Amino acid sequence: MCGIVGYAGYRDSQPILLESLKRLEYRGYDSCGVAISVNSALETAPTIEVHKDVGRVVDMEKNLPCVHGRVGMGHTRWATHGEVSPANAHPHLDCSGRIAVVHNGVIENFQSLRDELSREGHHFSSETDTEVIAHLIENYYSGDLERAVARALAELVGTYAVIVMVAGHEELVVARRESPLIIGVGDKENFVASDVAAVLDYTGSVVYLEDGDIAVVSGESITITNNGDRVQRERQVIPWSVEEAQKGGYEHFMLKEIHEQPKAIENTLKGHISLIEPLIALDVVKDEGLEDVLIVACGTSWHAALIGEYVIGKLCHLPVRVKVASEFNHYDMAMDKTWVWGISQSGETLDTLQAIKKARALGCPTLAITNVPGSSITRIAEQVFYTRSGPEIGVAATKTFMTQLVALYLLAMSFASLDMMVYEGLIEGLRLLPSKVQQVLDEVGKIAQHARELSPYANVFFIGRGLNYPVAMEGALKLKEISYIHAEAYPAGELKHGPFALLGRTTPVVAITTKDDTYEPMLTSIKEIKARGPQVIALAEEGDEDIEQFVDAVIRLPQVDPLFSPFLNSVALQLLAYYTAKERGCPIDLPANLAKSVTVP
Ligand code: AGP
Repeated sequence: MCGIVGYAGYRDSQPILLESLKRLEYRGYDSCGVAISVNSALETAPTIEVHKDVGRVVDMEKNLPCVHGRVGMGHTRWATHGEVSPANAHPHLDCSGRIAVVHNGVIENFQSLRDELSREGHHFSSETDTEVIAHLIENYYSGDLERAVARALAELVGTYAVIVMVAGHEELVVARRESPLIIGVGDKENFVASDVAAVLDYTGSVVYLEDGDIAVVSGESITITNNGDRVQRERQVIPWSVEEAQKGGYEHFMLKEIHEQPKAIENTLKGHISLIEPLIALDVVKDEGLEDVLIVACGTSWHAALIGEYVIGKLCHLPVRVKVASEFNHYDMAMDKTWVWGISQSGETLDTLQAIKKARALGCPTLAITNVPGSSITRIAEQVFYTRSGPEIGVAATKTFMTQLVALYLLAMSFASLDMMVYEGLIEGLRLLPSKVQQVLDEVGKIAQHARELSPYANVFFIGRGLNYPVAMEGALKLKEISYIHAEAYPAGELKHGPFALLGRTTPVVAITTKDDTYEPMLTSIKEIKARGPQVIALAEEGDEDIEQFVDAVIRLPQVDPLFSPFLNSVALQLLAYYTAKERGCPIDLPANLAKSVTVP
């Protein structure tokens, strides 16, 4: 979604703003802009120079005059109110052109505010909700920007992360409510951004703002107030390096992140299972008296939750419910003794944050599973389990999904009462995962070949059973989001209840055939499918010679305990989606209309 950046310090802000905006491109956007407070000559009034356009930051940069100024802001917009146009791109100015604003979030009462401001004589140049903020601040501004911003924000209903500046002033006023905002702390310079990726090039230390915070940021100082009171926010070290947020020689971030999975799994396991003793040491504590678990999440994180549902059910015999976070608002079941877990790699997905808030309001204990330190979900949930994937830049989640699975398996194992032999076997299974995943990655060439065969089709079905049905869902999601091929996942046994009507020579089927109790029924489903004409590509383990006779192609995977098969099947399906999208020439890291973290309802 939208990304915002700001700079106040001793250097020219323009190149810093542009580089920071490029670091936020992964969030997804359709237009961009920068505003710089220009150091005017003494005899002329200070001004704000704004440049904005539709399209990529690099394209805007080509037509950008060199503007000098030590304070500025920038924005990448993902349209919500109004079409994609230069006028609707941020920053937005007030009538005088002396106050500039960039904003992430949604102002719900913007229409009534705009009507009121128009009656007062304000002229609007865009269709956005954001522009009302600039005009409201203009109404209240008489020399004290912080005060004017506070008064204007008090009138807003909705969510925001904003940066505001006034021409000629050496400071930015920034604020947040339910939209992420951080301050990167430098030496005689400070940086503001929607997430740490934007500031990694300049500093390793950040302050995470809390809801309701208003901060005045200059090169020399940062002062924060909340509800009028001065507050201190801890300065924290960013646990990610610049290199981790770069492509490192890979053609796409997604491919790099797929290949980082053995390391990401190892890092997430580290500290939780000892390499010598079969121990799991988690910081997560289960309250006495809790009788079931409800997991809320969106997209890929929801698929991880569905796999978790099987694993927790199997190992702990604990009832688990899984809800798409945006549906949780419409959910009205008894939750007296329910532990609510929210899974979100970004920790900023609004639907998931709102679901966790609702759970807390209902009095349920809450646990967040996230990859981003300091993200909003870590402030809302009572307990946090951090996955350790490092930054994920590609819009398609890959390594964060893998480590969410690690987290769920660890949680399930830690709450289960298992026979020691079974327990040790599972620990061994976890330990072997990085090398098994690496073996799948080593077969990348063969999977790419299958992807080339899949690439001309317009529709693909993915089928699985049991634990691997959600894996099929994840495979279909990966394929549709980056290759734009329509892909649907079905529990294999369900195809004959309707989707069979669509099967034919032009609808290939990817079938996950794991050697567990789902294997025989899966073969039955495959035979029924083959009788109707589709090509079938099977994911099958090494040594399964029978499968060849029933399908058209086989992607071979190393043997593992079937409980761990989702890890290997998912990697193969990620590679299948990646190489299909590459064959079709799609913009893999920045798929159309998608955003990395979805911070709007
Ligand atoms: C994954 O490939 C998607 N881009 C998307 O479904 C994503 O998983 C979803 O938006 C949830 O994000 P989160 O994990 O950051 O909450």
